[in-house]
Amino acid sequence: QSCCLSTSHCDSTSQNPINLTTHTPDSRTYTNFPESSSPDSSFINMNFASLKPILIVKPKSESEIKNAILCSRKLGVQVRTMSGGHDYEGLSYLAQSPFIIIDLVNLRSIKINLTDETAWIQSGATLGELYYEIAKTSKVHAFAAGVCPSVGVGGHISGGGFGTIMRKHGLASDNVVDARLMDVNGRILDRKTMGEDLFWALRGGGAASFGVVLSWKVKLARVPEKVTCFISQHPMGPSMNKLVHRWQSIGSELDEDLFIRVIIDNSQEGNQRTVKTTFQTLFLGGIDRLIPLMNQKFPELGLRSQDCKEMSWIESIMFFNWRSGQPLEIMLNRDLRFEDTYFKAKSDFVQTPVPENVFEEVTKRFLEKETPLMILEPLGGKINEISETASPYPHRRGNLYNIQYMVKWKVNEIEEMNKHVRWMRSLHDYMTPYVSKSPRGAYLNYRDLDLGTTEGTNTSFEDARKWGETYFKGNFKRLGLVKGKIDPTNFFKNEQSIPPLF
Ligand code: FDA
Repeated sequence: QSCCLSTSHCDSTSQNPINLTTHTPDSRTYTNFPESSSPDSSFINMNFASLKPILIVKPKSESEIKNAILCSRKLGVQVRTMSGGHDYEGLSYLAQSPFIIIDLVNLRSIKINLTDETAWIQSGATLGELYYEIAKTSKVHAFAAGVCPSVGVGGHISGGGFGTIMRKHGLASDNVVDARLMDVNGRILDRKTMGEDLFWALRGGGAASFGVVLSWKVKLARVPEKVTCFISQHPMGPSMNKLVHRWQSIGSELDEDLFIRVIIDNSQEGNQRTVKTTFQTLFLGGIDRLIPLMNQKFPELGLRSQDCKEMSWIESIMFFNWRSGQPLEIMLNRDLRFEDTYFKAKSDFVQTPVPENVFEEVTKRFLEKETPLMILEPLGGKINEISETASPYPHRRGNLYNIQYMVKWKVNEIEEMNKHVRWMRSLHDYMTPYVSKSPRGAYLNYRDLDLGTTEGTNTSFEDARKWGETYFKGNFKRLGLVKGKIDPTNFFKNEQSIPPLF
């Protein structure tokens, strides 16, 4: 208790401004994790009984982060760093061992430099805050990252970052040009001082294993002043299955300006439940160029110009969030989240088109559930141009698309959860013959503890390979070696962190 967490506070009994930066279970400002208003009470941790944090630190300066790290080391408690709090398994705010949360919500400045088309972003910023700031500064710039505005840049960029312009500009992590990291000793390292191995690891390897990323410097992408969006919806049945089947072969081959993702979900119409497929599209250009392209490559969709809408790039983000027409300021809302309460997700990579009858079976299974969801995101383009070892994210050339499976439910009861999780696992098992193999791939940003965990402190690197190679393939070994150098005592650890390799 004698540790100094805040530069303005060294005594937990005094009345000085402790509540500005640190929040104990006794203080009114402590958020009751995870049951109430944590940024992501919507997300549930499936696989372990978690504790509540001893303390939540909301640093206002980098020196306070240093104090929190050094103090935690001294007290022998774990640190969980939280940026947007969107981790699918809650690893930024739940843990099995005593821990504190470093919540970066107060460190979220964004500095855009249009001269060299870059931005320095503090890790606590959200994608929405970044996109809003870019749009305020330029009509022809964007950043290649995810579509959900409340996702934090800290976790998102360090885990890859799929988004609507990735086929032209790559993943968010492919566009990082510098980073500032605080290590286990409280030292601040940038690209030059950390060296290329550690800089490589942060861009897709999950930064939580290596330290606290304070800020990222990223390359902005150039986009046209007007882009085009459309959705095309199709009810379940043979023609829907045919369209999805056709999309599988062309989605990753299309012009890099064209991003068509597929969402399969279900809805209740009267007494009847039905499944539908939505093709949700962004084109980096105008309607006049899009229509001939679609007629040539995907005429089966029957796209007409009246189905399309031209808009600015930031409006396209609103469109992908089903929020067209709402004020842009909604992008600044850090609490945007699923209306449903809990969910479980999994992911896959597809390398050869899945037979048509598989979608028929998926549709049947979807009819059994209230809120199942499958999002198919096309790869190819720029993602293929980058080698498998250039960054920890290895799912490059040879992969047609990523599948994200999700099931949501509202009742917070263990039996309810088990029922849905069992359903999800069974769907994932069913897909085994049709997706990548040896190893079956998974995407780190759609974290899934079913793949395996580092149990206790004694998990060996060999044990961790089982799940590590699903995310990183052969890059897992290099990640282990980097970890061995920067954090040999394995201070920065969580249930799925990289074990050190020496
Ligand atoms: P959170 O704060 O929970 O951090 C996630 C992980 O990163 C944790 O392990 C945490 O400790 C660590 N971390 C966070 N900040 C750190 C820092 N500064 N230094 C070191 N470690 C840090 N993905 C995608 O690719 N494309 C998409 O479009 C979407 N969309 C989407 C929508 C919604 C509603 C959700 C819930 C999630 C997504 N995602 C996504 C997945 C998202 O990219 C993933 O969950 C990110 O890890 C979330 O980052 P946050 O900072 O929000 O999470």
